[in-house]
Amino acid sequence: MKIRVRPGKSLRGSVTVPGDKSLSHRSLILGALAEGTSDIRGFLPAGDTFATLHCIRQLGVQVDQHDKTTLTVHGIGLHGLKQPDVPLNFVNAGTGIRLMIGVMSGQQFPSVLDGSEQLKRRPMGRVTNPLRAMGANIEDNAGRTPLHVYPAHLKGMRHQLTVASAQVKSCLLLAGLYADGPTTVIEPGPARDHTERMLKALGADLSIDGNKVTLTPGKPLQPLDITIPADISSAAFLLAAGAIVPDSDFKIINVNTNPTRTGILEALAEMGMRIDLEDEAETSGEPIATMNVQAQSVRGTHINGDLVVRMIDEFPVLMVVATQAKGDTRVSDAHELRVKETDRIAVMAGELRKMGLTIEEYEDGFCISGKQQLNGAIVDGHDDHRVAMSLTIAGLIAEGETIIEDARCVNDSFPGFVEVLQTLGADVSWVN
Ligand code: S3P
Repeated sequence: MKIRVRPGKSLRGSVTVPGDKSLSHRSLILGALAEGTSDIRGFLPAGDTFATLHCIRQLGVQVDQHDKTTLTVHGIGLHGLKQPDVPLNFVNAGTGIRLMIGVMSGQQFPSVLDGSEQLKRRPMGRVTNPLRAMGANIEDNAGRTPLHVYPAHLKGMRHQLTVASAQVKSCLLLAGLYADGPTTVIEPGPARDHTERMLKALGADLSIDGNKVTLTPGKPLQPLDITIPADISSAAFLLAAGAIVPDSDFKIINVNTNPTRTGILEALAEMGMRIDLEDEAETSGEPIATMNVQAQSVRGTHINGDLVVRMIDEFPVLMVVATQAKGDTRVSDAHELRVKETDRIAVMAGELRKMGLTIEEYEDGFCISGKQQLNGAIVDGHDDHRVAMSLTIAGLIAEGETIIEDARCVNDSFPGFVEVLQTLGADVSWVN
């Protein structure tokens, strides 16, 4: 499937985007490990989260799906999972596999965790090495999947992380539920804290002291009753479109504004864009707000340090905004972009060059000197949802028509992406 996009009129209206991906994965996993029935509303019905859902069912957990976004998970407690009779296939879901390897390391039965060709290319040593230090018995394929996990005794210990990664932190805290003593994770930067918030809400013994999180095992998990808010990482594509499509003026309703996720709002504000928040509230322990988006002329900025961590998934689309910003937009400290679904620095630079962009790439980031005219082109989504969506946003301001090939992957995180853009008035559609 391809996406065809042409520049058009200003974006107007009021839209919602699907539920948060990070929270959807976590609510399934923690709901399965809880004692009793968890109700989940606002679940993200997408490729990545359905992959985790499928694996959870293969572990003997009953999950009823009432409609696309409403689920009931019949939790079977920390020690109730059953040995799966096939390898668990997480397809493209990096979060699903990295969180679940922590859970599987603590089980009394063996399991195999695997995924798509894309997932097979992603580094797993960042989770398997600290798990092994806890005593986990994991065989891997030179640091990649498939991961064979065998029963082991897990020791509670202190982990000093070298990368700011919520997937690694969460994996170790989940393994810590099965350890013989407290597990402490010290993180070098403010990676998203959804696991900590949810574990606390479920009654786990968790304490947080600055960048140090300690989980003391022994308490059963209570069931969950959650309304998952809209994903700011999906809203980000619309925020970016609002920044660069002239005269745009629209609202995105009830988006998660957890401060570990709102780096994109700060980066866009630095670039001169005003996004007003209204109807600020809290749902199931997470802050939410409606975002009022108005086009402004944007200027370059320098993004580095902790801000990178708090907007780690937003750089592909930030690159597109940078093409329209006056002056230099420089990103550093962002090595992690090279080990996402794709090497997002190289892949985005390569595709945007096809649209006429001049960009400098660095090992840990890039520099774009704007404003530059983009030209419509045939570009490739590389089976990376955020790349495919970012290129679609680029097509909204390019001259002529842009075709994004290999774009089906947008459904990994944002089903309805094309339709939401259409609602705002964009000239975009699926083509065969
Ligand atoms: C996620 C953490 C981030 C992010 C990913 C989702 C999560 O990965 O890129 O899309 O839900 O924990 P890292 O923890 O590897 O930075």
